[in-house]
Amino acid sequence: MICKRSSVIFCGAFLFITWNAILVLLLWGRPPSGQEQKEAERPSIDIVDGVLRIVDSIEAELEVQKKTLLQIQNHQSLWEPSDRNGPKAAPTRPPVIPILVIACNRVTVKRCLDKLLQHRPSEELHPIIVSQDCGHAETAEVIRSYGNNITHLKQPDLSDIQVRPEHKKFKGYYKISRHYHWALNQVFKTLSHSSVVVVEDDLEVAPDFFEYFRALLPFLKSDPSLWCASAWNDNGRDGYVDPGKADLLYRTDFFPGLGWMLLREVWEELEPKWPDAFWDDWMRQPEQRRNRACIRPEISRTLTFGRQGVSLGQFFDKYLRYIKLNTEFVPFTKLDLSYLKEEMYRENFEKEVYNAPVVRYEDVKQGQLKGPGPFRLQYSSKDSFKMMAKNLGIMDDLKSGVPRAGYRGVVSFISRGRRIYLAPPPGWTQYDLSWS
Ligand code: UD1
Ligand code: MN
Repeated sequence: MICKRSSVIFCGAFLFITWNAILVLLLWGRPPSGQEQKEAERPSIDIVDGVLRIVDSIEAELEVQKKTLLQIQNHQSLWEPSDRNGPKAAPTRPPVIPILVIACNRVTVKRCLDKLLQHRPSEELHPIIVSQDCGHAETAEVIRSYGNNITHLKQPDLSDIQVRPEHKKFKGYYKISRHYHWALNQVFKTLSHSSVVVVEDDLEVAPDFFEYFRALLPFLKSDPSLWCASAWNDNGRDGYVDPGKADLLYRTDFFPGLGWMLLREVWEELEPKWPDAFWDDWMRQPEQRRNRACIRPEISRTLTFGRQGVSLGQFFDKYLRYIKLNTEFVPFTKLDLSYLKEEMYRENFEKEVYNAPVVRYEDVKQGQLKGPGPFRLQYSSKDSFKMMAKNLGIMDDLKSGVPRAGYRGVVSFISRGRRIYLAPPPGWTQYDLSWS
Protein backbone atom coordinates (compact mmCIF):
# COMPACT_ATOMS: atom_id res chain seq x y z
CA MET A 1 0.00 0.00 0.00
CA ILE A 2 1.36 3.44 -0.94
CA CYS A 3 -0.58 5.30 1.71
CA LYS A 4 0.25 4.54 5.33
CA ARG A 5 -2.75 3.85 7.50
CA SER A 6 -2.32 7.00 9.50
CA SER A 7 -2.35 9.11 6.36
CA VAL A 8 -5.22 7.41 4.61
CA ILE A 9 -7.42 10.41 5.22
CA PHE A 10 -4.86 12.75 3.81
CA CYS A 11 -4.39 10.49 0.79
CA GLY A 12 -8.17 10.26 0.29
CA ALA A 13 -8.53 14.01 0.37
CA PHE A 14 -5.57 14.42 -1.98
CA LEU A 15 -7.01 11.94 -4.50
CA PHE A 16 -10.36 13.65 -4.26
CA ILE A 17 -8.96 17.08 -4.99
CA THR A 18 -6.69 15.79 -7.75
CA TRP A 19 -9.51 13.94 -9.47
CA ASN A 20 -11.73 16.96 -9.47
CA ALA A 21 -8.91 19.22 -10.63
CA ILE A 22 -8.36 16.86 -13.58
CA LEU A 23 -12.05 16.92 -14.46
CA VAL A 24 -12.19 20.71 -14.32
CA LEU A 25 -9.06 20.99 -16.44
CA LEU A 26 -10.51 18.56 -18.98
CA LEU A 27 -13.65 20.58 -19.14
CA TRP A 28 -11.88 23.91 -19.61
CA GLY A 29 -9.17 22.69 -21.80
CA ARG A 30 -11.22 20.60 -24.29
CA PRO A 31 -9.57 21.31 -27.64
CA PRO A 32 -12.24 23.05 -29.72
CA SER A 33 -13.16 21.08 -32.89
CA GLY A 34 -13.48 22.84 -36.26
CA GLN A 35 -17.27 23.04 -36.00
CA GLU A 36 -17.23 24.42 -32.49
CA GLN A 37 -14.60 27.01 -33.41
CA LYS A 38 -16.88 28.63 -35.92
CA GLU A 39 -19.79 28.77 -33.54
CA ALA A 40 -17.67 29.87 -30.58
CA GLU A 41 -19.60 33.09 -29.93
CA ARG A 42 -22.98 31.44 -30.09
CA PRO A 43 -22.95 28.11 -28.26
CA SER A 44 -25.15 25.61 -30.00
CA ILE A 45 -27.75 23.43 -28.28
CA ASP A 46 -25.30 20.48 -28.76
CA ILE A 47 -22.61 22.15 -26.71
CA VAL A 48 -25.02 23.07 -23.90
CA ASP A 49 -26.21 19.44 -23.85
CA GLY A 50 -22.65 18.24 -23.74
CA VAL A 51 -21.76 20.54 -20.84
CA LEU A 52 -24.87 19.43 -18.97
CA ARG A 53 -23.88 15.79 -19.44
CA ILE A 54 -20.41 16.51 -18.13
CA VAL A 55 -21.85 18.39 -15.13
CA ASP A 56 -24.10 15.41 -14.44
CA SER A 57 -21.21 13.01 -14.53
CA ILE A 58 -19.13 15.29 -12.26
CA GLU A 59 -22.04 15.32 -9.83
CA ALA A 60 -22.25 11.51 -9.88
CA GLU A 61 -18.49 11.28 -9.43
CA LEU A 62 -18.64 13.69 -6.47
CA GLU A 63 -21.32 11.52 -4.90
CA VAL A 64 -19.07 8.45 -5.21
CA GLN A 65 -16.13 10.36 -3.74
CA LYS A 66 -18.25 11.58 -0.85
CA LYS A 67 -19.30 8.02 -0.05
CA THR A 68 -15.69 6.88 -0.11
CA LEU A 69 -14.61 9.65 2.27
CA LEU A 70 -17.47 8.82 4.63
CA GLN A 71 -16.43 5.18 4.65
CA ILE A 72 -12.86 6.17 5.51
CA GLN A 73 -14.19 8.29 8.34
CA ASN A 74 -16.35 5.45 9.69
CA HIS A 75 -13.45 3.00 9.77
CA GLN A 76 -11.05 5.43 11.37
CA SER A 77 -11.51 3.77 14.75
CA LEU A 78 -9.85 0.61 13.50
CA TRP A 79 -6.42 2.17 13.32
CA GLU A 80 -6.62 5.32 15.39
CA PRO A 81 -5.82 5.20 19.14
CA SER A 82 -9.07 4.56 20.95
CA ASP A 83 -9.10 7.98 22.63
CA ARG A 84 -10.57 9.30 19.37
CA ASN A 85 -13.48 6.88 19.61
CA GLY A 86 -15.61 9.16 21.61
CA PRO A 87 -15.86 10.73 25.01
CA LYS A 88 -16.62 7.45 26.79
CA ALA A 89 -13.56 5.44 25.69
CA ALA A 90 -10.55 5.76 27.99
CA PRO A 91 -7.41 6.99 26.23
CA THR A 92 -4.90 4.23 25.62
CA ARG A 93 -1.37 5.06 24.64
CA PRO A 94 1.28 2.41 24.08
CA PRO A 95 2.85 1.83 27.50
CA VAL A 96 6.31 3.16 28.30
CA ILE A 97 8.55 0.46 29.76
CA PRO A 98 11.90 1.89 30.85
CA ILE A 99 15.02 -0.26 31.06
CA LEU A 100 17.06 0.16 34.23
CA VAL A 101 20.69 -0.85 33.77
CA ILE A 102 22.55 -1.52 37.03
CA ALA A 103 26.22 -0.59 36.59
CA CYS A 104 29.26 -0.27 38.84
CA ASN A 105 32.87 -0.52 37.74
CA ARG A 106 32.91 -2.58 34.55
CA VAL A 107 33.55 -0.73 31.29
CA THR A 108 32.08 -3.74 29.51
CA VAL A 109 28.70 -2.17 30.25
CA LYS A 110 29.24 -1.02 26.67
CA ARG A 111 28.36 -4.47 25.35
CA CYS A 112 25.11 -4.36 27.31
CA LEU A 113 24.21 -0.85 26.19
CA ASP A 114 25.14 -1.41 22.55
CA LYS A 115 22.80 -4.40 22.32
CA LEU A 116 19.98 -2.59 24.10
CA LEU A 117 20.29 0.34 21.69
CA GLN A 118 20.61 -1.99 18.70
CA HIS A 119 17.38 -3.84 19.46
CA ARG A 120 15.33 -1.02 21.02
CA PRO A 121 12.25 -0.49 18.85
CA SER A 122 11.51 3.01 20.16
CA GLU A 123 13.36 5.57 22.21
CA GLU A 124 10.11 7.04 23.59
CA LEU A 125 8.62 3.70 24.65
CA HIS A 126 11.85 2.34 26.18
CA PRO A 127 13.96 5.03 27.81
CA ILE A 128 17.24 3.54 29.04
CA ILE A 129 18.25 4.59 32.54
CA VAL A 130 21.73 3.58 33.61
CA SER A 131 22.21 3.72 37.35
CA GLN A 132 25.85 3.66 38.34
CA ASP A 133 27.17 2.70 41.72
CA CYS A 134 30.84 2.57 42.77
CA GLY A 135 31.92 5.96 41.35
CA HIS A 136 34.25 4.32 38.84
CA ALA A 137 35.48 7.10 36.51
CA GLU A 138 36.31 4.98 33.48
CA THR A 139 32.89 3.31 33.54
CA ALA A 140 31.24 6.71 34.00
CA GLU A 141 33.07 7.89 30.90
CA VAL A 142 31.75 4.97 28.85
CA ILE A 143 28.20 5.66 30.01
CA ARG A 144 28.59 9.39 29.33
CA SER A 145 29.68 8.65 25.77
CA TYR A 146 26.10 7.61 24.92
CA GLY A 147 24.97 11.21 25.38
CA ASN A 148 21.24 11.78 25.16
CA ASN A 149 20.49 8.23 24.09
CA ILE A 150 20.42 7.21 27.73
CA THR A 151 19.93 8.74 31.18
CA HIS A 152 22.91 8.44 33.51
CA LEU A 153 22.13 8.37 37.24
CA LYS A 154 24.74 8.03 39.96
CA GLN A 155 24.03 6.32 43.24
CA PRO A 156 25.09 9.03 45.71
CA ASP A 157 25.90 6.97 48.81
CA LEU A 158 29.33 5.42 48.25
CA SER A 159 30.08 5.07 51.97
CA ASP A 160 31.45 1.88 53.40
CA ILE A 161 28.87 -0.53 54.82
CA GLN A 162 29.40 -2.00 58.27
CA VAL A 163 28.76 -5.73 58.25
CA ARG A 164 29.27 -8.42 60.84
CA PRO A 165 32.73 -10.03 60.63
CA GLU A 166 31.58 -13.31 59.11
CA HIS A 167 29.89 -11.31 56.32
CA LYS A 168 33.03 -9.34 55.37
CA LYS A 169 33.37 -11.40 52.22
CA PHE A 170 29.79 -10.64 51.29
CA LYS A 171 30.14 -6.86 51.38
CA GLY A 172 29.57 -6.72 47.62
CA TYR A 173 26.09 -8.17 48.10
CA TYR A 174 25.30 -5.40 50.59
CA LYS A 175 26.38 -2.77 48.11
CA ILE A 176 24.32 -4.33 45.33
CA SER A 177 21.27 -4.37 47.57
CA ARG A 178 21.73 -0.71 48.57
CA HIS A 179 22.12 0.22 44.91
CA TYR A 180 18.98 -1.66 43.81
CA HIS A 181 16.99 0.04 46.55
CA TRP A 182 18.07 3.48 45.46
CA ALA A 183 17.79 2.84 41.72
CA LEU A 184 14.29 1.33 41.86
CA ASN A 185 13.15 4.26 43.99
CA GLN A 186 14.47 6.58 41.30
CA VAL A 187 12.52 4.77 38.61
CA PHE A 188 9.23 4.49 40.44
CA LYS A 189 9.20 7.44 42.83
CA THR A 190 11.37 10.15 41.28
CA LEU A 191 10.69 9.38 37.63
CA SER A 192 7.15 8.04 38.32
CA HIS A 193 7.26 5.11 35.94
CA SER A 194 4.70 2.34 36.41
CA SER A 195 6.84 -0.59 35.27
CA VAL A 196 10.51 -1.33 34.61
CA VAL A 197 12.79 -4.00 33.18
CA VAL A 198 15.92 -4.43 35.29
CA VAL A 199 19.11 -5.39 33.47
CA GLU A 200 22.59 -5.83 34.95
CA ASP A 201 25.69 -4.47 33.24
CA ASP A 202 26.95 -7.95 32.31
CA LEU A 203 23.84 -8.98 30.37
CA GLU A 204 23.43 -9.02 26.61
CA VAL A 205 19.88 -8.94 25.28
CA ALA A 206 18.28 -10.86 22.40
CA PRO A 207 16.65 -9.22 19.35
CA ASP A 208 13.12 -9.82 20.67
CA PHE A 209 13.90 -8.78 24.27
CA PHE A 210 11.69 -5.67 24.05
CA GLU A 211 8.95 -7.48 22.14
CA TYR A 212 8.84 -10.14 24.87
CA PHE A 213 8.33 -7.66 27.68
CA ARG A 214 5.85 -5.58 25.72
CA ALA A 215 3.72 -8.69 25.23
CA LEU A 216 3.88 -9.68 28.89
CA LEU A 217 3.10 -6.32 30.49
CA PRO A 218 -0.70 -6.79 30.18
CA PHE A 219 -0.36 -10.21 31.87
CA LEU A 220 1.49 -8.76 34.84
CA LYS A 221 -1.08 -6.00 35.13
CA SER A 222 -4.11 -8.25 35.03
CA ASP A 223 -2.96 -11.36 36.87
CA PRO A 224 -2.23 -11.07 40.61
CA SER A 225 -0.77 -14.60 40.63
CA LEU A 226 2.19 -13.22 38.64
CA TRP A 227 4.77 -10.82 40.02
CA CYS A 228 7.45 -10.79 37.38
CA ALA A 229 8.43 -11.68 33.86
CA SER A 230 12.01 -12.72 33.28
CA ALA A 231 14.09 -13.12 30.14
CA TRP A 232 16.11 -15.90 31.75
CA ASN A 233 15.87 -19.70 31.76
CA ASP A 234 18.17 -21.07 34.48
CA ASN A 235 18.43 -24.34 32.57
CA GLY A 236 18.65 -22.68 29.19
CA ARG A 237 21.91 -24.23 28.08
CA ASP A 238 22.40 -25.25 24.49
CA GLY A 239 21.17 -28.85 24.18
CA TYR A 240 18.82 -28.47 27.16
CA VAL A 241 16.21 -26.39 25.36
CA ASP A 242 14.13 -27.07 22.25
CA PRO A 243 15.51 -24.86 19.49
CA GLY A 244 12.24 -25.22 17.58
CA LYS A 245 10.25 -23.70 20.43
CA ALA A 246 11.56 -20.15 20.61
CA ASP A 247 8.00 -18.96 21.21
CA LEU A 248 7.33 -21.24 24.20
CA LEU A 249 6.83 -19.56 27.59
CA TYR A 250 6.38 -21.01 31.07
CA ARG A 251 5.27 -20.07 34.51
CA THR A 252 7.90 -20.62 37.17
CA ASP A 253 7.82 -20.45 40.96
CA PHE A 254 11.54 -19.64 41.00
CA PHE A 255 12.38 -15.95 40.71
CA PRO A 256 14.92 -15.95 37.84
CA GLY A 257 16.10 -12.30 37.82
CA LEU A 258 18.65 -11.55 35.07
CA GLY A 259 16.55 -9.28 32.90
CA TRP A 260 13.16 -9.02 34.61
CA MET A 261 10.12 -6.81 34.68
CA LEU A 262 8.18 -5.66 37.70
CA LEU A 263 5.32 -3.23 38.28
CA ARG A 264 5.27 -0.27 40.63
CA GLU A 265 2.77 -2.06 42.89
CA VAL A 266 5.28 -4.86 43.51
CA TRP A 267 8.00 -2.32 44.30
CA GLU A 268 5.73 -0.49 46.72
CA GLU A 269 5.14 -3.78 48.49
CA LEU A 270 8.84 -4.77 48.68
CA GLU A 271 10.48 -1.39 49.21
CA PRO A 272 9.66 -0.86 52.90
CA LYS A 273 11.27 -4.19 53.82
CA TRP A 274 14.01 -4.31 51.18
CA PRO A 275 16.91 -6.37 52.58
CA ASP A 276 20.46 -5.22 53.34
CA ALA A 277 21.98 -7.99 51.21
CA PHE A 278 21.24 -11.01 48.98
CA TRP A 279 18.15 -9.32 47.52
CA ASP A 280 17.52 -12.03 44.91
CA ASP A 281 17.44 -14.92 47.36
CA TRP A 282 15.31 -12.77 49.65
CA MET A 283 12.82 -12.39 46.80
CA ARG A 284 12.68 -16.18 46.63
CA GLN A 285 11.51 -16.52 50.22
CA PRO A 286 7.82 -17.36 50.71
CA GLU A 287 7.17 -14.12 52.66
CA GLN A 288 8.05 -12.12 49.58
CA ARG A 289 6.98 -14.44 46.79
CA ARG A 290 3.64 -15.27 48.38
CA ASN A 291 2.99 -18.11 45.94
CA ARG A 292 3.30 -15.85 42.93
CA ALA A 293 4.97 -16.97 39.73
CA CYS A 294 7.07 -15.37 37.04
CA ILE A 295 6.90 -15.94 33.30
CA ARG A 296 10.12 -17.26 31.76
CA PRO A 297 11.01 -18.33 28.23
CA GLU A 298 12.16 -21.72 26.94
CA ILE A 299 15.12 -19.97 25.32
CA SER A 300 16.74 -17.10 27.24
CA ARG A 301 16.47 -13.54 26.00
CA THR A 302 19.53 -12.55 28.03
CA LEU A 303 23.02 -13.96 28.27
CA THR A 304 25.54 -13.14 30.98
CA PHE A 305 29.14 -12.41 30.12
CA GLY A 306 30.20 -11.40 33.63
CA ARG A 307 32.58 -14.03 34.86
CA GLN A 308 34.34 -11.50 37.09
CA GLY A 309 31.63 -10.47 39.47
CA VAL A 310 30.68 -10.26 43.10
CA SER A 311 29.96 -14.01 43.28
CA LEU A 312 33.39 -14.79 41.79
CA GLY A 313 32.13 -16.85 38.92
CA GLN A 314 30.54 -19.46 41.21
CA PHE A 315 28.17 -20.76 38.57
CA PHE A 316 29.68 -19.04 35.62
CA ASP A 317 32.03 -21.67 34.33
CA LYS A 318 29.72 -24.54 35.14
CA TYR A 319 26.43 -23.25 33.77
CA LEU A 320 25.98 -19.58 32.99
CA ARG A 321 28.46 -19.25 30.17
CA TYR A 322 26.66 -21.95 28.19
CA ILE A 323 23.21 -20.37 28.30
CA LYS A 324 21.87 -20.14 24.77
CA LEU A 325 20.71 -16.68 23.71
CA ASN A 326 17.68 -16.63 21.42
CA THR A 327 18.46 -15.38 17.92
CA GLU A 328 15.14 -15.74 16.09
CA PHE A 329 12.75 -12.79 16.56
CA VAL A 330 9.41 -14.03 17.92
CA PRO A 331 6.51 -11.55 17.43
CA PHE A 332 5.16 -12.14 20.95
CA THR A 333 2.77 -9.18 20.86
CA LYS A 334 0.97 -10.82 17.94
CA LEU A 335 0.77 -14.30 19.47
CA ASP A 336 -2.04 -15.74 21.53
CA LEU A 337 -0.49 -16.11 24.99
CA SER A 338 -3.72 -16.95 26.79
CA TYR A 339 -2.34 -20.41 27.61
CA LEU A 340 -0.29 -18.69 30.33
CA LYS A 341 -3.36 -17.75 32.37
CA GLU A 342 -3.12 -19.38 35.75
CA GLU A 343 -5.90 -21.92 35.99
CA MET A 344 -5.73 -23.12 32.41
CA TYR A 345 -1.95 -23.22 32.55
CA ARG A 346 -1.87 -25.28 35.72
CA GLU A 347 -4.42 -27.78 34.44
CA ASN A 348 -2.74 -28.24 31.08
CA PHE A 349 0.73 -28.38 32.60
CA GLU A 350 -0.28 -31.08 35.06
CA LYS A 351 -2.02 -33.07 32.37
CA GLU A 352 1.04 -32.81 30.14
CA VAL A 353 3.46 -33.80 32.91
CA TYR A 354 1.48 -36.50 34.68
CA ASN A 355 0.21 -38.13 31.48
CA ALA A 356 3.79 -38.55 30.34
CA PRO A 357 5.12 -42.08 30.93
CA VAL A 358 7.45 -42.52 33.90
CA VAL A 359 10.99 -43.51 32.98
CA ARG A 360 14.01 -44.64 34.95
CA TYR A 361 16.87 -42.30 35.63
CA GLU A 362 19.37 -44.80 34.16
CA ASP A 363 17.48 -44.90 30.87
CA VAL A 364 17.50 -41.12 30.59
CA LYS A 365 21.14 -40.92 31.52
CA GLN A 366 22.18 -43.59 29.03
CA GLY A 367 19.93 -42.31 26.26
CA GLN A 368 17.83 -45.47 26.11
CA LEU A 369 14.40 -43.89 25.91
CA LYS A 370 12.08 -45.35 23.30
CA GLY A 371 9.66 -43.00 21.55
CA PRO A 372 9.49 -39.26 21.07
CA GLY A 373 8.54 -38.24 24.63
CA PRO A 374 7.77 -36.29 26.68
CA PHE A 375 8.85 -38.43 29.64
CA ARG A 376 8.48 -38.05 33.36
CA LEU A 377 11.31 -38.67 35.74
CA GLN A 378 10.15 -38.83 39.32
CA TYR A 379 12.00 -37.61 42.41
CA SER A 380 10.70 -38.11 45.90
CA SER A 381 13.35 -36.55 48.11
CA LYS A 382 15.75 -33.65 48.11
CA ASP A 383 18.64 -36.03 47.60
CA SER A 384 17.10 -37.82 44.65
CA PHE A 385 16.30 -34.47 43.04
CA LYS A 386 19.86 -33.28 43.52
CA MET A 387 21.43 -36.47 42.30
CA MET A 388 19.39 -36.62 39.11
CA ALA A 389 19.65 -32.89 38.40
CA LYS A 390 23.40 -32.88 38.85
CA ASN A 391 24.00 -35.95 36.70
CA LEU A 392 21.67 -34.84 33.94
CA GLY A 393 23.28 -31.40 33.79
CA ILE A 394 20.57 -29.14 35.14
CA MET A 395 20.83 -26.77 38.10
CA ASP A 396 20.62 -28.77 41.32
CA ASP A 397 20.28 -25.97 43.84
CA LEU A 398 17.01 -25.08 45.53
CA LYS A 399 16.07 -21.75 47.11
CA SER A 400 13.36 -21.82 49.76
CA GLY A 401 12.60 -25.33 48.53
CA VAL A 402 12.05 -24.29 44.89
CA PRO A 403 14.22 -25.78 42.15
CA ARG A 404 15.51 -23.38 39.50
CA ALA A 405 13.01 -22.86 36.68
CA GLY A 406 10.58 -25.16 38.52
CA TYR A 407 6.81 -24.91 38.46
CA ARG A 408 4.91 -26.84 41.11
CA GLY A 409 8.07 -28.82 41.71
CA VAL A 410 8.48 -29.75 38.04
CA VAL A 411 11.59 -28.89 36.05
CA SER A 412 11.22 -29.11 32.28
CA PHE A 413 14.27 -29.62 30.08
CA ILE A 414 15.59 -31.45 27.03
CA SER A 415 17.94 -34.41 27.36
CA ARG A 416 19.36 -35.99 24.21
CA GLY A 417 16.61 -34.44 22.14
CA ARG A 418 13.73 -35.55 24.35
CA ARG A 419 11.53 -33.54 26.68
CA ILE A 420 11.96 -34.61 30.29
CA TYR A 421 9.87 -33.49 33.24
CA LEU A 422 11.76 -33.97 36.46
CA ALA A 423 8.75 -34.10 38.73
CA PRO A 424 7.58 -34.88 42.26
CA PRO A 425 4.97 -37.65 42.68
CA PRO A 426 1.39 -36.79 41.61
CA GLY A 427 -0.61 -34.79 44.12
CA TRP A 428 2.08 -32.19 44.89
CA THR A 429 0.76 -29.45 47.13
CA GLN A 430 3.63 -27.31 48.39
CA TYR A 431 7.38 -26.74 48.55
CA ASP A 432 9.41 -28.04 51.46
CA LEU A 433 11.37 -25.09 52.87
CA SER A 434 13.97 -27.38 54.37
CA TRP A 435 15.12 -28.44 50.90
CA SER A 436 18.03 -26.18 50.08
C1 UD1 B 1 24.66 -12.18 41.61
C2 UD1 B 1 23.53 -12.28 40.60
C3 UD1 B 1 22.86 -10.90 40.40
C4 UD1 B 1 22.40 -10.35 41.73
C5 UD1 B 1 23.51 -10.40 42.76
C6 UD1 B 1 22.99 -9.99 44.13
C7 UD1 B 1 23.80 -13.97 38.89
C8 UD1 B 1 24.42 -14.37 37.60
N1 UD1 B 1 24.03 -12.74 39.33
O1 UD1 B 1 25.55 -11.20 41.19
O2 UD1 B 1 21.78 -10.99 39.51
O3 UD1 B 1 21.97 -9.02 41.58
O4 UD1 B 1 24.08 -11.71 42.83
O5 UD1 B 1 22.52 -11.00 44.87
O6 UD1 B 1 23.09 -14.76 39.48
N2 UD1 B 1 27.00 -3.84 41.48
C9 UD1 B 1 26.71 -2.67 42.16
N3 UD1 B 1 27.51 -2.29 43.20
C10 UD1 B 1 28.59 -3.02 43.61
C11 UD1 B 1 28.87 -4.24 42.92
C12 UD1 B 1 28.05 -4.62 41.86
O7 UD1 B 1 25.75 -1.99 41.82
O8 UD1 B 1 29.27 -2.62 44.53
C13 UD1 B 1 26.12 -4.25 40.37
C14 UD1 B 1 26.82 -4.70 39.11
O9 UD1 B 1 27.05 -3.61 38.26
C15 UD1 B 1 25.81 -5.69 38.52
C16 UD1 B 1 25.10 -6.26 39.74
O10 UD1 B 1 25.38 -5.38 40.82
O11 UD1 B 1 24.86 -5.01 37.72
C17 UD1 B 1 25.58 -7.68 40.07
O12 UD1 B 1 26.95 -7.67 40.25
P1 UD1 B 1 27.93 -8.80 39.69
O13 UD1 B 1 29.30 -8.38 40.03
O14 UD1 B 1 27.61 -9.11 38.30
O15 UD1 B 1 27.57 -9.99 40.66
P2 UD1 B 1 26.94 -11.43 40.42
O16 UD1 B 1 27.78 -12.39 41.12
O17 UD1 B 1 26.64 -11.68 39.00
MN1 MN C 1 26.80 -10.71 37.24
